[in-house]
Amino acid sequence: MMKQPVEGFSKLTKNQKIEWLAQAYFSDPGKAVSIFKTYWNDDEKLQKLHDEFIENTITNYYLPLGVAPNFLINEQLYTIPMAIEESSVVAAAGKAAKFWLKRGGFHAEVVNTEKIGQVHFIYKGDKERLRQYFEHIKPALFSETETITENMKKRGGGIIAIELRDKTAALEDYYQLHCTFNTLDAMGANFINSCLEQFARTLQQGAQEYEAFETEEKKIRIVMSILSNYVPDCLVRASVSCKVEELNEDQMPPEEFADKFVRAVDIARIEPYRAVTHNKGIMNGIDAVVLATGNDFRAVEAGVHAYAARNGRYSSLTSASIENGIFRFEIEIPLALGTVGGLTSLHPLVQLSLEMLGNPSAPELMQIVAVAGLAQNFGAIRSLVTTGIQKGHMKMHLLNILNQLQATDEEKAFFVTYFKDKTATHRSVIEAFHKLRENA
Ligand code: MEV
Repeated sequence: MMKQPVEGFSKLTKNQKIEWLAQAYFSDPGKAVSIFKTYWNDDEKLQKLHDEFIENTITNYYLPLGVAPNFLINEQLYTIPMAIEESSVVAAAGKAAKFWLKRGGFHAEVVNTEKIGQVHFIYKGDKERLRQYFEHIKPALFSETETITENMKKRGGGIIAIELRDKTAALEDYYQLHCTFNTLDAMGANFINSCLEQFARTLQQGAQEYEAFETEEKKIRIVMSILSNYVPDCLVRASVSCKVEELNEDQMPPEEFADKFVRAVDIARIEPYRAVTHNKGIMNGIDAVVLATGNDFRAVEAGVHAYAARNGRYSSLTSASIENGIFRFEIEIPLALGTVGGLTSLHPLVQLSLEMLGNPSAPELMQIVAVAGLAQNFGAIRSLVTTGIQKGHMKMHLLNILNQLQATDEEKAFFVTYFKDKTATHRSVIEAFHKLRENA
């Protein structure tokens, strides 16, 4: 039967919403309600906090929060929190951290921390008059945003620059105010968007009173005002390096390992099909820390992938080289992160994650996150060019199946050994499990 639209859903209570859902969509409504409610937190205050993060909350969706210890970054030791559902990611991070701990650790530096926002508008008049109008209105763009920027300015941040950009060659009558901001330890989305919306009002109203404009030119039409998640000037670099002969932990001569490793990164540099998977592996590490520290992983994803395609072809975010017997592996990525405001001050686990990292500034967090991405990529490529990734993955796959079968800890240990030299397919695990239970 066709489902009917629902009126006033947002006004229903949480219980009513779940009840409606259960009746409308589930073959066993009672079971669905019970599962939704299993994930409610007994602590009512905590539950209310989560309910109010978004609209129409019905329950909580758990992700594991794991930690990867032993990260030596710029001579300081960190344990990095990671929120992620994919098995092997945290283990790979911990393994890479330990590997580099013995070889000088990770080095990281912030290149720049500028963020961008734009007012997109339409103007159908003389270009030179618009340019003159922009110079005339520019001081007002700064002064009329003073109530918004006051606090940020006191701490050393604020609006860095406002530029008029003529985009008419690409799109008829289209111009921008292209604005640069320093939002210090805040991700800054609200700050930037508030500034931009005020710029738009000032720009539009000022045009109506600008005497040098002809009547039609006074009608500047604002299309939209919004920050950009493309932040190529909010950039961080992280690297590791060691003598080739120190890459001696795999069952492969270090020279061969280094050579294959560099080859693998070079392939991702020139081959988009590989680059996407290569970068996906990097984002396994990056997103997990971004999420654990309460940052916006969609913004980070969008900006990072745009950066990976900045030269016209999608390419690797990391690079590797061997020079004079030294192996070097590096990442360069844009990361607009915050360590104050937003979820960072609301979510108790986010607060713990940040405290675990020593309550970093945003630039420090950029370095930690970049390192997590580099470490993840190191772990993935190391596996890919030596054992292949299935070895590690299959163990987790095996444990997931055994968990579904509610195997005991002894049974799990037995099957990990049993499947060491066999392929653990879903079917083969179930068969072996039932055989064991029958013979028990
Ligand atoms: C899987 O989540 C990530 C990898 O595919 C990354 C890579 O291939 O480099 C292992």
